Amino acid sequence: MNVHTFRKHKQQGRKISMVTCYDHWSARILNRCDVDCLLVGDSLAVVMHGFDSTVQATVEMMAMHVGAVARGAPDKFIIADMPFLSCSRGIDKGLDAVQALMTQGAHAVKIEGDTHQVELIRRIVEAGVPVMGHIGLTPQSIHGLGGHKVQGKGEEEAQRLINGARALQGAGCFAIVIECVPRVVGRCITEAVNVPTIGIGAGPETDGQVLVLHDLLGVNPDFKPKFLRRYADSHDYITEAVNRYHSEVVEERFPSLEESYG
Ligand code: KIV
Repeated sequence: MNVHTFRKHKQQGRKISMVTCYDHWSARILNRCDVDCLLVGDSLAVVMHGFDSTVQATVEMMAMHVGAVARGAPDKFIIADMPFLSCSRGIDKGLDAVQALMTQGAHAVKIEGDTHQVELIRRIVEAGVPVMGHIGLTPQSIHGLGGHKVQGKGEEEAQRLINGARALQGAGCFAIVIECVPRVVGRCITEAVNVPTIGIGAGPETDGQVLVLHDLLGVNPDFKPKFLRRYADSHDYITEAVNRYHSEVVEERFPSLEESYG
């Protein structure tokens, strides 16, 4: 997978799959899976560090996770999120953040927002770094948006998102994530741009889909957004395995003689 494959897949109507990856051991597993590309998303602030939003992700935190993923998934195309405010303090600071992520092994960066990010995106692309846009529900702006709400509901708001996607394409983005918009808006944005769109809660007509790995694996049984499909019940699976280990230790059934050095 590379930036050219993304566009080729859109032209050929072949959907693109992306999944988040935050750490080395899951990167090693995902490196052997068929999934097209990995996103070191700033959602790791919530999933891996227990914060209540992505606002707490920092460049240092992101860079550390990118390195762990890159060492575990050498065959995958890795996109790293530019964290909260790293794109809002001027071009030089933005480029410093890009450098921190790319030197850890990312192949591209993802930036939340549209028209207000165009200048920075242009400069990053000129520097030879592929940029993925992210519009719709942009979790770094969660306080400004007033919570996790579906975006682009009215006609005016939908048109604003379409214009934003066109601006991102014009700035040189090779793909655009669309998060939590009505299905028809996901389709209209996808039709309005030549670069592939990757949806999460944006319906089936985007050019690809992205999910948080832990969500699709069912690690948190209480997290049930409408757009999520669970492909495993890891919470129950892990609980069962660890409880079985505990009882075998307590009941002196682990370790056996075969599991002991002579
Ligand atoms: O940080 C993240 O995981 C994301 C995806 C949900 C698109 O940005």
